Amino acid sequence: MRILVTGGAGYIGSHTLLQLLREQHDVLVFDNFSNSSPEALKRVKQLANADFEVCEGDIQDSVRLSDAFGTFKPEAVIHFAGLKAVGESNEKPLEYYAQNVSGSIELLKAMERHDCKRIVFSSSATVYGEAKYLPYDEQHPLQPTNPYGRTKHFIEEIIRDWAASYRGASAVLLRYFNPVGADASGRIGEDPNDIPNNLVPYISQVAVGRLKHLNVFGNDYDTRDGTGERDYIHVEDLARAHLAAINFTGETTGCEAINIGTGQGATVLEMVNAFESASGRSVAYKIGPRRDGDVARSLAAVRKAEKLLGWKAQLNIDDMCSSTWNWQFTNPNGYTQK
Ligand code: NAD
Ligand code: WQD
Repeated sequence: MRILVTGGAGYIGSHTLLQLLREQHDVLVFDNFSNSSPEALKRVKQLANADFEVCEGDIQDSVRLSDAFGTFKPEAVIHFAGLKAVGESNEKPLEYYAQNVSGSIELLKAMERHDCKRIVFSSSATVYGEAKYLPYDEQHPLQPTNPYGRTKHFIEEIIRDWAASYRGASAVLLRYFNPVGADASGRIGEDPNDIPNNLVPYISQVAVGRLKHLNVFGNDYDTRDGTGERDYIHVEDLARAHLAAINFTGETTGCEAINIGTGQGATVLEMVNAFESASGRSVAYKIGPRRDGDVARSLAAVRKAEKLLGWKAQLNIDDMCSSTWNWQFTNPNGYTQK
């Protein structure tokens, strides 16, 4: 099938591309490389032993999008492109609304112009906000607590309206929990530009010696050991969920939001321990104050994914830590060769 992948050079996009190519799909990557490197695409091509087209462009650029749709004629879109840093979204909300929301509208318009009716969108568990109950199921109220989360919520609603108005359209909104890990080859992985905001990339940079110690954001939460608990999902499992979702859009019309997690939680200290075992390195940490906006626990209800997509996570915390370490150890500076 012909699939246009926005943001395909990024962390989750590159892992999904690899699986799409291995399943013999034809892909076109549309990416402005604002948070990624062409090197990731080069490595995906090597790993898959397959080639694909790349269009460098911004999803806000309707002309560039039209060119890509006009020549490639995709039957479906996987839409990863967007900005994703919660803290930055508080400082630059308009940039987030422009790139994420306006960019998504341009993409949907291009799809309509070119008669493309199937989309899988990267949403986030952050759309739920403070838990009214756990695990979060897809019916949980949506009350995101920062501009980034609100862009995801708004895009979800826009896609829902688009799918309802466009005859034959089918959309899946995948609400990812906490994606971590890397391809087993160690050739592609998460490569944050600055000091990582997220736990696992931070831990792995401590383990490899790039950062001195982890700051644990609070140990007075109502959890097993007082540190925050999250539902970490291996990026390979997440990539597989996109293939299942693309198939689903071929069998249905309308719009479905679906959680993608394992249903199992791990605390910060449990992740530190798992990473130490996987890497054989010690991970120094200091307990500090809570981070603003953090919740104690986040866990996914996973039945809908199983029921609608026939998808279930297969990899565990040890797989997540060992694959992250394999990537970090063999690429201590990410895609930048130093
Ligand atoms: P990423 O930053 O690694 O990948 C995003 C890609 O989109 C990058 O290659 C970037 O260059 C590109 N891009 C950004 N803005 C663009 C624009 N305006 N036009 C064209 N390309 C653009 O991020 P990721 O972790 O791979 O996340 C992919 C998607 O999943 C994002 O939409 C993100 O919000 C969502 N998501 C990520 C997480 C997570 O923890 N990583 C969790 C939930 C949801
Ligand atoms: C996990 C746990 C922290 C860093 C974020 C976004 C969310 C989604 C995924 C995109 C928490 C603790 C972290 C550190 C720590 N992204 N921590 N020290 O906050 O669950 O979710 O990424 O959609 O929108 O908000 O993930 O990895 O930042 O934190 O103690 O240096 O690790 O307090 O308990 P989070 P995270």
